[in-house]
Amino acid sequence: MSYRVTLLPGDGIGPEVTAAMKEVVAASGVDIQWDEIDVGLLAMEKGKPALPEEALKSLRRNKVGLKGPVTTPVGRGHVSVNVMLRKQLNLYANVRPIKSFRGVGARYENVDLVVVRENTEDVYAGVEHEVTPGVVECVKIITWEGSTRVAKYAFDYARRMGRQKITAVHKANIMKLSDGLFLKACQKVAKRYPDIQYEEAIVDAACMKLVMNPQAFDVLLCENLYGDIISDLCGGFIGGIGLAAGANIGEKGALFETVHGSAPDIAGKGIANPTAMILAAAMMLDYLGEHAAARRIRTALEQVIAQKRHVTPDIGGKATTMEMGTAVAQRVKE
Ligand code: NAI
Repeated sequence: MSYRVTLLPGDGIGPEVTAAMKEVVAASGVDIQWDEIDVGLLAMEKGKPALPEEALKSLRRNKVGLKGPVTTPVGRGHVSVNVMLRKQLNLYANVRPIKSFRGVGARYENVDLVVVRENTEDVYAGVEHEVTPGVVECVKIITWEGSTRVAKYAFDYARRMGRQKITAVHKANIMKLSDGLFLKACQKVAKRYPDIQYEEAIVDAACMKLVMNPQAFDVLLCENLYGDIISDLCGGFIGGIGLAAGANIGEKGALFETVHGSAPDIAGKGIANPTAMILAAAMMLDYLGEHAAARRIRTALEQVIAQKRHVTPDIGGKATTMEMGTAVAQRVKE
């Protein structure tokens, strides 16, 4: 079977980690035709907008995309390409698997959990105003439809990926209406999945429990703000966001991405760690149903990192981005 996938390498270290990822995916034997389109600074250098229309068209056509990091100027310039993509394609669920790698010297071992975060509502809907000087209001929007949609995605994901338990994270003891509605939607969806264990945790207690015993969690189901904070907190368990990938899922397609940014401090040096981009590609292969290839890629990556011989400087090695990519590709072939 052949797939057509939109590939947005991004800017900064994006094109470097993308090249390494392509070698690894090619080694898996899955036939992917890449529609490669420049976004961010590389598009702007060619006189185009940061998110050219052709990128959106290609994503709408192919329904599956893979994206490297994109620079977002602070306080000026264009709107975040990432935010534009999420809004334009209505990518309502953000999925971030957090799994420990042996050999990176992270503080925790054997962490293996997934954060599923609602991506479109909550205080991120952007409804904020000044009531009177010195008083501002930020509106938290939670809908039955949005909560049900993300809860259903989380339960389907758990079932598909062989996960056992979902923890809905909330603060419904204080925000009785908004978080209360989110919880009711989660409870209703949970009833339809008797094979998946369901529990609830108040967000502050959940954070403490996560830090004390992350192994107690499997899938965390969160509203937008709690999910944003908790997914970075969990990124810390495995040695930082440089080793994590994420997916943005919509009703009409999905976009997989690195969690890290464009790393201007090391761009062009060929030393960026390609792990996150390779993991993003493995998540994409799972989404396409190519589970065996995805598994082979993850195992190869774990072995290369554990051996430490062909890893980039950020995790204690001397290899270049391409050397690490090639080492992973070799293992995938074996
Ligand atoms: P960053 O993630 O780009 O860099 C933070 C630190 O981590 C830097 O020291 C960098 O060298 C290092 N790092 C990141 N990825 C690495 C990798 N793969 N290998 C080795 N080291 C790595 O975050 P920063 O500096 O806050 O943001 C830079 C730009 O990226 C900004 O314009 C920001 O808006 C954008 N950004 C884009 C994201 C995306 O497109 N998904 C996510 C986060 C930031």
